[in-house]
Parts: sequence; structure tokens; C-alpha cells
Amino acid sequence: MKPLDPLGDLRRTHLCGDIRAEQIGEEIILCGWVHRRRDHGGVIFIDLRDHAGLAQVVFKPDTSSEVHSTAESVRSEYVIAVRGELIPREADSLNPNLPTGEVEVLASEVRILNTATTPPFAIENEVEVDDAVRMRHRIHDLRRPVMQENLRLRHRLLQSTRNVCSDLGLVEVETPILARATPEGARDFLVPSRVHPGEFYALPQSPQIMKQMLMVAGFDGYFQIARCFRDEDQRADRQLEFTQLDLEMAFVGVDDVLERLEEITARAFKDVLGVELPRPFPRRDYRDVMARYGSDKPDTRIGLELVDLSDIVAQSDFKVFSGAIRSGGVVRALPIPDAAEIGRGDLDRLVAQVQEWGAKGLAWVRVMEDGSWQSPIAKFLSEAEREGIQSRANLKPGDLILFAADRAGLANDVLGRLRLQLGERLGRTDGRDWDVLFVVDFPLFEEDEKGKLTYSHMPFVAPNEEDIESLDKDPIQVRGTHYDLVINGMEIGSGSLRNHRVDLQLKILDLLGYSEAESRKRFGFMLEALEAGAPPHGGFAFGLDRLCMMMTGGESLREVIAFPKTQRAQDLFMHSPSEVDGDQLRELGLRVRAKKGPDGE
Ligand code: AMO
Ligand code: AMP
Repeated sequence: MKPLDPLGDLRRTHLCGDIRAEQIGEEIILCGWVHRRRDHGGVIFIDLRDHAGLAQVVFKPDTSSEVHSTAESVRSEYVIAVRGELIPREADSLNPNLPTGEVEVLASEVRILNTATTPPFAIENEVEVDDAVRMRHRIHDLRRPVMQENLRLRHRLLQSTRNVCSDLGLVEVETPILARATPEGARDFLVPSRVHPGEFYALPQSPQIMKQMLMVAGFDGYFQIARCFRDEDQRADRQLEFTQLDLEMAFVGVDDVLERLEEITARAFKDVLGVELPRPFPRRDYRDVMARYGSDKPDTRIGLELVDLSDIVAQSDFKVFSGAIRSGGVVRALPIPDAAEIGRGDLDRLVAQVQEWGAKGLAWVRVMEDGSWQSPIAKFLSEAEREGIQSRANLKPGDLILFAADRAGLANDVLGRLRLQLGERLGRTDGRDWDVLFVVDFPLFEEDEKGKLTYSHMPFVAPNEEDIESLDKDPIQVRGTHYDLVINGMEIGSGSLRNHRVDLQLKILDLLGYSEAESRKRFGFMLEALEAGAPPHGGFAFGLDRLCMMMTGGESLREVIAFPKTQRAQDLFMHSPSEVDGDQLRELGLRVRAKKGPDGE
């Protein structure tokens, strides 16, 4: 049998989007999808589309009647090949908005390579359809130029980072997807074993443990473009499965790692966007950014900064303030210079909004032209308190200040969000496109709601050398070697130096509440590896989807992932998750006990 070759001699010579006036007079063969067909009384125009763009093909009535009638029969999204001469367009059909707008192909031959069902929406950048419809019809959605561009940008990002890592001497090593639960903090996806009924693999939340093992195994630099799986609530910046550029290096300190990260990031911006980021990237202390911006991922382009007033109002007669402090909280505030634009109605809306975010209220003061205070709380504050606040916040006539009295976490969260929202609304930004920085010296531990010590990032983070002594006395004050890369207020990646000595690792696990026996049971292979001659090591993981989303200026990871999951953890295109055969379950030794209804009830 002859091999199937539907193109025959119609071998594509150009991409639709690439034809230009320089080729006028040449014979051109294009392949693509019918974007639009217009009949102008005998003259048929077809806009033919491929990933490079659109080309206009014209069928004149004096071409062969067969060619003409084929052209007449095509519909949107049919796949066709055409041969013809490239000619200049008539003056009235020039299109300055298209790169190919000066030329058209005068068709002499056309072949339908495939027909197509009617598309669910127009293949255009602007589509007025629900996200669910886009996900359900992802094939058509991906045909839209903007999605083509996004995924091609992603390709450039993947290539750039891979090349730089290789240039830096890191070795690309793949680690198992059928892995074992790791303590990254999210729920695991489990895969049942057929060979060992009742036992499960876990999909990796990250290759964390394996990359540390590679360091012990003598690879002193590793990287991987790694798929990670976390069963957590979906948000615009969170997917169930996502991709990290994961790296680890031996014989490094924090500075060495940050230098490499800076190199990778700067090269990616250069390669993908042609942007030269100013270097070195600023390194900001965790405590400092929390104090000034109320967030560990600050957008420092916004000029507004928080102040702490706890010491000034600790004894206040205003119980909202003094009470919050007495119960271990703080009183913090966001001063907004020249805030006339924020009216009374706005303030009411802000109060309602912070309550939605979980705060009890939002007190405010507006400084009038004569220096007096307009405020629902002014009357509760003493002269000294008012002066203290005025001078700490540097308040002047026309300024507004918003107060949050609460647990430190909530107060920071509320004021940090208001800072972003109002800063953007009032245009208090310094105009930079890119705000790229490292946050360093995160605390090693934090307390959970019950006051129990937990790790801030993961249990293998090494403490800051200078703070090791405080591990017993005051663990909550101990700084870890953890660092984050923050771009435009989004956490793009994080990493740390790890505990390479088993005694220190056991000590930290002990503080986290694991006895040595328990630690050995849970992390035995890890601890044994540390005992097998582990070099000092540290690393990092970039969230590549997030970085890509930033670079495209998009608002959701779904715009940069070919086949993403929805908010409700479904792939509407493939229809996953899905039920499986009873036989398959039996083979795995599984039985489904409770089936959830469509709403998860
Ligand atoms: P971490 O858990 O901070 O660190 O993850 C690193 C980066 O991965 C991205 N990311 C996500 N992106 C999309 N969807 C998600 N659900 C998601 N979760 C995380 C973020 C984040 O900064 N093993 C450590 C790294 C290390 O210490 O070397 C780790 O995984 O951009
Ligand atoms: P109340 O005493 O509840 O009437 O509150 C007096 C003022 O303090 C109102 O403007 C409230 O919005 C504000 N307020 C109440 N609770 C808090 C809080 N936890 N932090 C900041 N302001 C608050």
C-alpha cells in the first residue's frame, strides 16, 4: 500500500503569517485553517490561518471551475492547502493591521485536507465566552493567537532556563513521579500499587528529597524541569499539577545560590522578553519587609508603607487597640498621604471589605486642613497617643491613616492588601515594569493555631549559622536560611540551605515534635543518607508557570498551561477525573465506598 500522503506535491513553502511583499511574483504553497471565507459575487476570499498569522487567498472566477467550487465549499476551520502566485492586494483591500496586509495569494489550486465541525467560538484574541467553555473546547481555545503566543513564550522560557542551568554546570537528572509522600505541606495524590495491594505511591509535591539525595550521591549540581503535584485548593496562581525549575547544589552558601538564581532569572528575562533587569537584585530582610509592607512578597513599586503603633497605644482607653495588644496582637496602620480622593463612601466600603477578609474593623483618621482629626475614634485617644501616631506616621493635612488592631498575621494581611489596592488605585507607583527582589532570613519555625511549633517551609531547612545557639532557648526567633524570589509582588520561587548534618536535622525534627524513633520511621532513608557523607548543600525551585504568567502579563496560570485544571480540579476537555472499571479496581484491591454527587455532597 502506498503510504498516506494527503499533501501530494502541495508541500508548504511558507507560513501564512510570513508572506511579504518581497516575495511578490513567487509561487507560494500554504497550509492552514480556514479562518474566514467571504464571497464577493464570484470572487472568493479565504483568510487562511496558521500559528504565524493570517494570509489572504483569493479565488477569481476565471480560475478553473473545480478550484472555484472547492473554495466555495470550504467552511470555517477546514484544513486546506493552496497553491498560487503572491500578488499585491488591490488598493481597497490593503490591511495595515496585518503584517501580511499588502499581499494575497492568487489561488490556482486548492485541496481540502480535512473538514471541521463548526467552532464553538470565533478563533480571535477577544472572545466573550465563559472560562468553562474555553476549557471544554481547549483545542479551539489554543488556536487563538494569544494562546499560541503564550505557549511559545513558555517554550522560550523553558529553553532559556534549561540552557542557563546547563551553562552553570548543573546536570539535568529526572526523578520519580511514582514517589513517596514528602513533607511539602499539601495533600498528596496517591497511586495504588497493583503488585502490593493496599500500598500506594505518592506523586511528588516536589523532587525535594530526591534532589538532596543526588547531592549525597556526588552530583554537586542538579536541575530538572520537574512536574509537581499538590492536592490543594485551586486559585488563579495554583494548579494541582505545575512545573518547577528545580535546582540543588553542593558546597554552596546562600550567596552562591542567590548569584545563580539571579543569573537564571536575568537571562530568562533577556531571552524571553528582551528585558535587562537591573542587577544585583535587592536582598530584603524578612522582618523588614513584613514591617514595611505587611507581606513577605512585597511589590515595592508601590510607595505606601505600614507603621507599627503598638507601643504608642498599648495602654489606650480605646479598648479596640489596647485589648488587641493585651491578647498578643498588634496595632498597625497604613498612612496614605494626600488622600482626598478617598471619600467617605470609599471608607465605608473599605471597612466592609476588610471584614470580608476576616478583620473585625478598620479604624481611620483623616487630617483636616487645620490639622484637626476627622475620625470615629479620635475621641477615644489621648493627646499623647494622637501626637505619637501623628509623628510616627508623619501625618500632614490631607492625609488619611487606616488602622488594624488584630493578630499580627491578620493585621499585616489586611493592611498589605489595602496597600496594594489603594496604591494602584491612587497611582502611587514608581513606574517600574519589573520589581525583582530576594527576601531572605525567614524564620525557621512558626506557631500553629494551637501554639505548637511547626516549620515555616519544610523540615529540612538549615538554620542560620548565627542562630543555632538559640534553637533550644528561643526557637521561634531562629532564622532559617530560606530565601524567596519575588517578582511584582508574587512569590516566584523559594529555596534554602539544608541540614546536611544528621544531629542538626534530628534536633530540628525533635523541636517539631518527632522523637528520634518517629523521625527514623518517617524520614529514615533521608537520615541514613545524611549519615552517608552528605555535603553541605542548598537549592531552589522556580514556579515556572507563575514566572510565565508574569511574563505574559496574564492573571491566571490557565493562560500559560496547555491543558489546565479548573477551579473544581477538573479537566473539562479530557473529562478527568473519571470513573474506572470495576475490574480495574478489583485488580488494585480497591472498592469505592462513597460516591460523591456532582456538587461534592
Ligand atoms: P515551594 O513549595 O515554595 O518550594 O515551591 C516553589 C515554587 O513553586 C511554585 N508553586 C506553585 N505553582 C503553581 N501551582 C502550585 N500549586 C504551586 N505551588 C508552588 C511557586 C513556589 O514559589 N522543594 C521546595 C523548593 C526548595 O526548597 O528547593 C519547594 O517546592 O512559585
Ligand atoms: P467599635 O468600637 O466596634 O464601634 O469600633 C470603633 C471603630 O474602630 C470603628 O471605626 C471600627 O471600624 C474600628 N474597629 C473595630 N475593630 C477594629 C480592629 N480590630 N482594628 C481596627 N479598627 C477596628
